[in-house]
Amino acid sequence: MTKAKLVFDPFSEEFFNGAFETYRRMREETPVYHSEEHDFYALTRHADVAPAFKDFETYSSRYGLDLATVSTGEVPAGGENMIILMDPPEHRNMRSLLNKVFTPRAIQSQKESVTEKIDKYLSRVDPEGFDVVQEFSGPFPVEVITSMVGVHDEEVAQQIRHWIDVSLTREPGQIAQGEKAMQANIETAMFYLDLVQKRRANPRDDLFTKLIEAELEREDGSKTKLDDVEIASFATLLGAAGAETVTKLVGTAVVLFAKHPDQWQKLLDDRSKIPAAVEEILRYEGPVQYNVRRSMRDIHLHGTTIPEGNPVFLIGASANRDPEAWTAADTFDIDRDRTEAQNIGFGYGVHSCLGAALARMESAIALEKLLDFMPRYEVDWDNCRRVQMQNVAGWHNIPVKVLK
Ligand code: HEM
Repeated sequence: MTKAKLVFDPFSEEFFNGAFETYRRMREETPVYHSEEHDFYALTRHADVAPAFKDFETYSSRYGLDLATVSTGEVPAGGENMIILMDPPEHRNMRSLLNKVFTPRAIQSQKESVTEKIDKYLSRVDPEGFDVVQEFSGPFPVEVITSMVGVHDEEVAQQIRHWIDVSLTREPGQIAQGEKAMQANIETAMFYLDLVQKRRANPRDDLFTKLIEAELEREDGSKTKLDDVEIASFATLLGAAGAETVTKLVGTAVVLFAKHPDQWQKLLDDRSKIPAAVEEILRYEGPVQYNVRRSMRDIHLHGTTIPEGNPVFLIGASANRDPEAWTAADTFDIDRDRTEAQNIGFGYGVHSCLGAALARMESAIALEKLLDFMPRYEVDWDNCRRVQMQNVAGWHNIPVKVLK
């Protein structure tokens, strides 16, 4: 029997449903995959993906992180203001500014407020039946981010979440952003621009005010403050990078533990395993599946040449399941040896997640509270629905019932 043709289509139902079987075949059969349909390349092996994330000179972020943007071959308009779309040296200067604002202390000081928000949403759900994503893991992370930025309004936070959702959602086969998505981006940017101007007039003890006061070392050695557009761009990025992702990690956790009740039991028996569980969810089925880069030179790898100027998918979600890197890579095991390989769930190299400490804290508190609230639960599998988004994977609906 001949094998089915190997096709990785990041805009297909198959991708939205978790393309782990396709990743396995890509790792084994074509470690430098080329898509005939969309004309991109993809790396899937841990030994290729991890070094590529570090090699920003060969794999540039400046041209975008998704297929549609990188395919244009142009630096995206406004991208020069977004840290995630910068290469060093600009990236280095911006990152060192943000590291000064996003300090471990600043994150730790959010603990009480994060716990409060998690408690608030969990206290509102009906144990007889509720949707984990829509009623819990969706609403709280965006409120964490927006309140750090300085917006303490539940409705506004949820409006921002809606804009982010619209801007990332894709129909099967849809590669570029539609009009609705673009409109949502504009609305978000306008909202934050207005907020920067308000904070300039009335400083407060929040992230926006700190960003207004911080100084960026420019390439010529001069120091300047961030302008309004730079601050608004960063806030927009935080919403997309920092809310959606935590939503997905916590939702996926509920699905994974329902499928692996022995692992849930381990947490019920020993809460000190929660941080390890968060790392394992991130490895096993992390929210970010891939980031696209642009090849800045011809790359010769495994007998294939990736020509300069092409989109290259770095599929971290596949690297995290590579049996060459991890023992029993396809087994969900919160007790696994985490030192075996680098977990790529938060990226790797210069762009590795700025919000990792916050994400870990939010996810751990959410798990802790879920263990209290629903030590036993069942999932209504027929009504679970996945998101259809680019770059990320996760659930849109997870109806559950708490069991007595
Ligand atoms: C479970 C949750 C999260 C996951 C899985 C995640 C994942 C990632 C990944 C894979 C990258 C690297 C992107 C690249 O290499 O192109 C990244 C970067 C980034 N993340 Fe996260 N993230 C999470 C939560 C957060 C949170 C809570 C925040 C904000 C507070 C945040 C802010 C950022 C920022 C600003 C960057 C860009 C850093 C840079 O370019 O230097 N993320 N994240």
